[in-house]
Amino acid sequence: MYLASGEVELECAMRGLSREQLIEVEFWRNSLTEGPDSGAVDNILHKCAEARILLRELRMHSSFFERASIVLELGAGQAWGSALVKREFPHLVTYASDISPDAVRSVTKWERVFSSKVDHVLSCPSNKIPLEDESVDLVFCFQAAHHFRAHRSTLLEIRRVLKREGFCLYLQEPCCLRFWYPLAYWRVNRKRPEVPEDVIVHRKLVAIAEEIGFSASYNLVPHTMNRGPVETLYYALLGWAKPLRYFLPCSSDFIFFKK
Ligand SMILES: C[S@@+](CC[C@H](N)C(=O)[O-])C[C@H]1O[C@@H](n2cnc3c(N)ncnc32)[C@H](O)[C@@H]1O
Repeated sequence: MYLASGEVELECAMRGLSREQLIEVEFWRNSLTEGPDSGAVDNILHKCAEARILLRELRMHSSFFERASIVLELGAGQAWGSALVKREFPHLVTYASDISPDAVRSVTKWERVFSSKVDHVLSCPSNKIPLEDESVDLVFCFQAAHHFRAHRSTLLEIRRVLKREGFCLYLQEPCCLRFWYPLAYWRVNRKRPEVPEDVIVHRKLVAIAEEIGFSASYNLVPHTMNRGPVETLYYALLGWAKPLRYFLPCSSDFIFFKK
């Protein structure tokens, strides 16, 4: 079911979602290749290619996962990331969540692919997590935080569910300086018009996180995996000429520490 534009406002109000959130939720419900009842091979192969990028990130940040006991993924989509995390770190109790119940329903496909079992699967927005205060050691998301938009309320909610001295990792988020934002925003929405995309201004996000009591930092982490030809050249250039990363849009990892 696709909604006509006049019906969107009503539907948003009834379901308590913003317009962007409603589009995300409807996308996962209706997508022929990514919907819950689809076993499309293109989707499996695409996500397996993305899994190489996450695996590299998990190995780069392995100490966070090794030290944790309870881990929550936000914006998990089909929750293949949590299935991979559980495969790599079987000692963890894993919670996978996404605003779309139809996205996380696909978790069983990924449990088969990675021979693992995600312990708990939830459907919730990033700023309304149905878990108790101070119940999680590590929160992470992969290529998802730039969809949340409500960064302050999300970070406040993450802070609430994190134990003292817990960490949150936002991995591989598209980021840029404030100066580039309009152009970067245009580019990401042109590239993937089905769902609304955003770009994170690193310094703005770090400032919000610090205001609410996190220690926050970020690393610029360009990679050339699973990219088109022009992007491969662009990210190869950023990989080679380090100073350019600080000026041009570049994917980044954020680390938030609850003091
Ligand atoms: C680009 S997808 C990434 C999904 C998954 N991490 C992956 O790499 O396949 C972004 C995800 O964020 C979810 N999302 C968007 N807004 C959200 C919100 N406010 N709270 C929680 N999840 C949200 C979307 O439903 C979508 O699954």
